[in-house]
Amino acid sequence: MRVTVTGCGYLGLVHAATLAAMGNHVIAMDVDEGKITRIREGRLPFREPGLADLVKTHAPSNLHFTSSPEVLGKFGGTVHFLCVGTPVKDGDVDLSYLFNAAEALAPHLSAGDLVVNKSTVPPGTGDKLLAFLRGVDVASNPEFLREGTAVQDSLYPERLVFGVNNDKARYALREVYRTLICSGTKEVTTTVVNAELSKLAANAFLATKISFINGVAQYGKAVGADVGKVSEILGLDSRIGQWGLRPGLGFGGGCLPKDLAMLTNDAADHDVYPLVDFLDSVSEINDRRRSQVRDIAADVLGDLSGKRVSVLGAAFKPGTDDTRESPGLLLAGMLTEEGAHVIVHDPSATGVKFMQVVAIEHAVRDADLVIVATEHEEYVKLDPSLFPPGRVIDARYCLDRGKWEAAGWEYHGI
Ligand code: UGA
Repeated sequence: MRVTVTGCGYLGLVHAATLAAMGNHVIAMDVDEGKITRIREGRLPFREPGLADLVKTHAPSNLHFTSSPEVLGKFGGTVHFLCVGTPVKDGDVDLSYLFNAAEALAPHLSAGDLVVNKSTVPPGTGDKLLAFLRGVDVASNPEFLREGTAVQDSLYPERLVFGVNNDKARYALREVYRTLICSGTKEVTTTVVNAELSKLAANAFLATKISFINGVAQYGKAVGADVGKVSEILGLDSRIGQWGLRPGLGFGGGCLPKDLAMLTNDAADHDVYPLVDFLDSVSEINDRRRSQVRDIAADVLGDLSGKRVSVLGAAFKPGTDDTRESPGLLLAGMLTEEGAHVIVHDPSATGVKFMQVVAIEHAVRDADLVIVATEHEEYVKLDPSLFPPGRVIDARYCLDRGKWEAAGWEYHGI
């Protein structure tokens, strides 16, 4: 199939490359000319394992990049994916990027083309796009990939969700994903609004799971239980599952916090207050994890003012350099407000606030307190016996407590 992808961010670039790997002829467009130039030169705008190789393999043959809607229009695509940002600002979702992308695409569409929204949106947005684009069909095909494993998640998804208005749209999407469907990937065809809500609900559910275990962690501490063990036991129940039960500093990134806010606001707009209250609790538990760690740090050090604190981890999770809604950076901000001198270290993220380019040895050795905020492998594997004993807060439950204590370190869980 000849397909176009608008937007070359985390979602669009991975989508374009993996569609090409599935045998489609793809052109991907982004309004940011500099970004397109860098991608063409093989310099990707973010770190994602396997993506650079995929782009390199397909770029000369069936994967093209442009910043021009005209070039995209001349490509002759019949299925057009929208993969642009839908940020939440001051509680409201900003759909301007989505509708701007649709507007740029509109003059280049032919009767019978299908526009497929992949960006996360409030339910009902597909209908608005349909009215906006007039005469061209619209579908929803939500994405469930995770940063750090995005290529694998796209090439071997657990399910494909096709939110469509008719069989023609379904068959077009089946054709795009033919190789996955032929190899047995489960396809769910449904209405556009069902597909839209399934994405928002999936992320809100994952967020709920994480906040649940973090709430239990706090309670476990109060009653003297080891939440790591409790989490292991819960996860062995196949109805519950292991993912999301790793307690810690809470969830961050460009998706879970945003999508939780989007669903909460949209539920409020529809007066569904029981759901709003429920989701508000999920957010509140998440936010409190950072302030709890700040309070533990203050207890450990007596007073934060003037103390040197090293926060290990600016990426919102391991395997990525993405620092959006980074729990480590949010914590660093709170510690700084209390007068601490904070250094943030990260093996892959660069150029962010509080960050100093120091060797990990320096960050660990020269601090009054070390806080592990992201479970990067480099931190998990640290050998504490190589450093003079100090104090560490394991805010991701990822260190071997026995090893750190044996090396003379004062270890604090959360
Ligand atoms: C999330 C969803 O997992 C994907 O299914 C979805 O497609 C994606 O958002 C999206 O909407 O694009 P992602 O943001 O890449 O993916 O990150 P996750 O792996 O879900 O992790 C989110 C946060 O939860 C991280 O900060 C992570 O450290 C935290 N987390 C995760 C925990 O605190 N505990 C856990 O047990 C698991």
